[in-house]
Amino acid sequence: MKLSLAANSALLKPGFMFGVATASFQIEGAADSRLPCIWDTFCAEPGRIKDGSNGLVACDHVNRWREDVELIAALGVDAYRFSIAWGRVINIDGSINSAGVNFYQQLLDELAKRNIKAFVTLYHWDLPQYLQDNGGWLNRTTAYKFAEYADVITKAFGNRVYSYATLNEPFCSAYLSYEAGIHAPGIQNRKQGRQVAHHLLLAHGLAMQVLKKNAPQAKNGIVLNFSPCHPASNIDADIRAAKMADEYHNQWYIQPLLEGCYPDLLSQLPASDQPDITEGDLTIIAQPLDFLGVNYYTRTVYRANDKGWFSDVPPTRQPLTDMGWEIYPQGLTEILLAMHNRYTLPPVYITENGAAMPDTLQQGQINDYARIAYFQQHLQATENAINAGMRIDGYFAWSLMDNFEWAEGYVKRFGIVYVDYTTQQRTLKASAVALRDLFAER
Ligand code: FCB
Repeated sequence: MKLSLAANSALLKPGFMFGVATASFQIEGAADSRLPCIWDTFCAEPGRIKDGSNGLVACDHVNRWREDVELIAALGVDAYRFSIAWGRVINIDGSINSAGVNFYQQLLDELAKRNIKAFVTLYHWDLPQYLQDNGGWLNRTTAYKFAEYADVITKAFGNRVYSYATLNEPFCSAYLSYEAGIHAPGIQNRKQGRQVAHHLLLAHGLAMQVLKKNAPQAKNGIVLNFSPCHPASNIDADIRAAKMADEYHNQWYIQPLLEGCYPDLLSQLPASDQPDITEGDLTIIAQPLDFLGVNYYTRTVYRANDKGWFSDVPPTRQPLTDMGWEIYPQGLTEILLAMHNRYTLPPVYITENGAAMPDTLQQGQINDYARIAYFQQHLQATENAINAGMRIDGYFAWSLMDNFEWAEGYVKRFGIVYVDYTTQQRTLKASAVALRDLFAER
């Protein structure tokens, strides 16, 4: 099964970048050569991770990175997006961990040799545990610690990096981690969730100032996740609920960055749930961005609940991915154009898009045709947004390989490359071959 785009597709034009993405905690392993992070702690708590697993070995990427770079290169991508484990490069006293920095420098050098552009994310959720012990993202100081880390690491990397993203999906580090309680550190408290969101955005703004100074040649920005919020019915209360959900989950993160203010919904929260905001914070947060990374997986449906708030409704329409997420490619075009119409956006990259599927290895093959169909539809959705007048500069498949899928453990497979966790053997799935053939057409 092949992926196909029209011969004149905007995605096949020179300059449009294709890549694959990963994140440190999900693939690296080698936990003994870095500081413990909040996800190590969370994994050790019974019941937090569905299969009881952890990130101690993961895909053993720290030991197998050369092989993994060969794999990435063989796919014919233009770019590779990965993240730095903060606790692998900075020691507790703030000094540099040179072995850890050296690991990433070598990786960057090998990518450069193969003409693969490095998209580096500074924070993909693995906060060092010693910072958590000091209050984590609830403590404003953590935002300043993040800027210091950004300063040290960008100086060490020099001009090896094509693009820096400060944060990956602050929605997850705030809402899923501090309100829904399903990600590390597993807290359920609205005020704390809003406070963490604010400190993360502050951390982003402070780090952007550092990036501008230390890495002016790089494209510097942030990666946000978006999901169109649809009403469960056309009654007014549900329509209002979906609009509130959009402000709470989507606009809450982008509006401060681009307009220097939070959505109006903030003032409707009880005072006891509102975050503490220091004067000047929003000016720091609204630093100009060289790019916006957009992660997209599915849409979300909401209904009004009896608390005057919104509740999400489980998907009722097929098809679903192995995560139980509705496959809804038109939602990608919808959310992109909605943002394009509402804001003055910087150039956009689709920094994550992909699907978990119940892959099985049969006679050495993984025929993940449903994943190929998912990519086909979402590439088309991306092209539709470009054709409607948006600037989109690239698309990254999530993920290069199967990995530790957070609270779901290793059971959910998002990779285009299959990982046998017993042998650590990597096998290209049919989707990897289809993407490779598409990239080669250019
Ligand atoms: C995103 C995360 C990424 C991965 C995918 C499936 O929210 O950024 O690490 O887990 O979901």
